[in-house]
Amino acid sequence: MNNFQFKNPTKIIFGKGSIEKLANEIPEHAKVLLLYGGGSIKKNGIYDQVKMALSNTTVIEFGGIPANPEYEVLLEALEIIKTESISYLLAVGGGSVIDGTKFLSAAALYEGASPWNILSDNIRTEKGLPFGTVLTLPATGSEMNSGAVITRKETQEKLSMGGPGLFPEFSILDPQVIASIPERQLANGITDAFTHVLEQYMTYPAGGLLQDRFAESILQTLIEVAPKVIKDPTDYEATSNFMWSCTMALNGLIQQGVPGDWAIHMMGHELTALFGIDHARTLAVIAPSHYKYNFEAKKEKLAQYGERVWNITEGSTDDKAYAAIEKTVDFFHELGIATKLSEYTKDYEGTAEIISERFTSRGWLGVGEHKSLSPDQVEEIVKMAY
Ligand code: NZQ
Ligand code: ZN
Repeated sequence: MNNFQFKNPTKIIFGKGSIEKLANEIPEHAKVLLLYGGGSIKKNGIYDQVKMALSNTTVIEFGGIPANPEYEVLLEALEIIKTESISYLLAVGGGSVIDGTKFLSAAALYEGASPWNILSDNIRTEKGLPFGTVLTLPATGSEMNSGAVITRKETQEKLSMGGPGLFPEFSILDPQVIASIPERQLANGITDAFTHVLEQYMTYPAGGLLQDRFAESILQTLIEVAPKVIKDPTDYEATSNFMWSCTMALNGLIQQGVPGDWAIHMMGHELTALFGIDHARTLAVIAPSHYKYNFEAKKEKLAQYGERVWNITEGSTDDKAYAAIEKTVDFFHELGIATKLSEYTKDYEGTAEIISERFTSRGWLGVGEHKSLSPDQVEEIVKMAY
């Protein structure tokens, strides 16, 4: 196991009726900017619950943060933070609203020339404006990590940022919010969380026995609850396990002391930036090709995953590893998630070359757990995903 230091300061307030507890978490005399997305919270009652809980707090609102939060829209919110001397941010939404809020937390205290530099120059935020979240969509784990991904429409870019100053102070997780999530977003959430675990697990045996079993247990739980959540998003047992699995998949715990891959996410973000494909679906497009292309390097972990998660007992290591990839593809298909780029766009020709060029121009010359996957190899993987 590799050496590590681990600190996750986010307080989780989990369970039925937990939105009521919001006021206890906001500092007295805070001037709050409440940030939300396209309006789902106004239809499903979450907005009313939040407003009720904050009835004694000074709150200004900013709605309209789109899925794949956009830089241009966030700059409008940044203006409000400055002109209104906002002291606390509250994200009420899914990964997009929470990520947008993280960008604002960083940008509010950033003294550089342009807030875009936080993304383009990969500036680590040590201290941000404090914020909390009310999670409305389990998927990304953003509610308990310090990363964010921001899109710039005019240049079709989607870049990551983060730093220890960008953990939410608290996150409220009431699984009852899942009742109103459309099936497409439920499937996305399951697929995203599942792939988060894979990115931190599907590398090479690294002696992280406990980390492996944490990872496998999250995958098993997601497989078990997925059909129940899709069938009945008011099933509390299924949805509470779904929600907690998504958080645990990307709050840093399973990544400690072991290598991580993350190349699937890096390629996937480009597909969202270029075609607007939902984040989770881009992962389902890239993952099978990535695992087939890197089969030799990953086959031991693929076979272990096949045995322990999918109960594949027959055949050689190669047979089990291959069958595990097939099982993963079937799982995505059962969720209604297509796994080929051509199923999302007719304009896929040339995509692999564009992505490869972008990786080269950003200096991403070796990605994956061995930092050895070159832009040319990335190009081949994306082509395999057409
Ligand atoms: O905008 P509204 O109207 O709220 O509707 C949203 C949105 O259309 C809707 N929704 C959310 N909660 C709902 C609901 N609809 C009904 N009832 C509810 N309770 O769902 C739609 C999608 O929301 P979004 O926040 O975009 O989804 P998700 O949570 O999947 O977030 C995706 C974003 O997170 C980034 C992705 O790249 C993408 O930009 N990620 C962030 C990560 C992180 N910070 O750690 C890691 C991930 O790998 C990912 O990259
Ligand atoms: Zn993801």
